[in-house]
Amino acid sequence: MLSSGFSMIGNLNQTLADHMIQRLATCGVVDGKNKDLALIQNSMNSNIILHHATVTRLRRERQNGHKSFILWFTGFSGSGKSTLAHCIEEILFLRGCRTYVFDGDNVRHGLCADLGFSAADRAENIRRIGELGKLFIDAGGIALTAFISPFRRDRERVRASVAPGDFIEVFCHAPLNVCEQRDVKGLYRKARQGEISEFTGISSPYEIPDNPEIIAMTGEHGVGECAGQIIEYLERNGKIPQSIVHRFQHQIVTR
Ligand SMILES: Nc1ncnc2c1ncn2[C@@H]1O[C@H](COP(=O)(O)OP(=O)(O)OP(=O)(O)O)[C@@H](O)[C@H]1O
Ligand SMILES: [Mg+2]
Repeated sequence: MLSSGFSMIGNLNQTLADHMIQRLATCGVVDGKNKDLALIQNSMNSNIILHHATVTRLRRERQNGHKSFILWFTGFSGSGKSTLAHCIEEILFLRGCRTYVFDGDNVRHGLCADLGFSAADRAENIRRIGELGKLFIDAGGIALTAFISPFRRDRERVRASVAPGDFIEVFCHAPLNVCEQRDVKGLYRKARQGEISEFTGISSPYEIPDNPEIIAMTGEHGVGECAGQIIEYLERNGKIPQSIVHRFQHQIVTR
């Protein structure tokens, strides 16, 4: 029964197909007569039916000339998540990539305006961003997310919800005292004075990633160096094409 369901995702790459097979196997919902329909595993309503697009992720990726993925920046407030995410976006944009930065504060103004900073609200905040990221992957784009996302479990949940390689975790590694000295938004001062509760690093924990794809030493290295490291990772792992400079580097004759 499941194999009939695979035809509908024939245009997806193998990794994605494997992932979807797992999901379908879990809920066991593909109907032989109704090949184009599948019920959503996570939905609370069993009458909600997925409609499958003919313009698939793979086709979008081919048209865009790069892979789609989530570049997930995590770290203390002031560790450089937004700075780096926008810097990377600028570089990718200039190379013709389809990108968007989901920035913590911006998202909390709208989509997540109803959420506070309790552990439960933070978890829901990250869940929503994860779902946004997944849609963005499906749309063939590169989602750059800049959220403190202090809890390992919340980040890992997003990672587990996408195919292997689609979630690239960038740990912005700057010591708390450096971030506090920067105090870009003046929030550390307020937190120390007790004006803000549940502030990460002061009155709420930050759980360091166990095995992030990239550790950017944002406390000691400059923005350019950290950005270069990330771009290099994306090129090396085939997520974006190598830059013209890289491609022709071996042909450059120096005197
Ligand atoms: N290597 C680096 N990468 C990123 N930012 C850096 C780096 N070195 C210094 N900075 C500086 O650190 C500050 C980081 O501020 P930024 O707003 O990006 O932090 P954030 O992690 O997004 O914080 P928040 O969680 O509060 O939004 C900026 O002033 C930036 O110029
Ligand atoms: Mg920020």
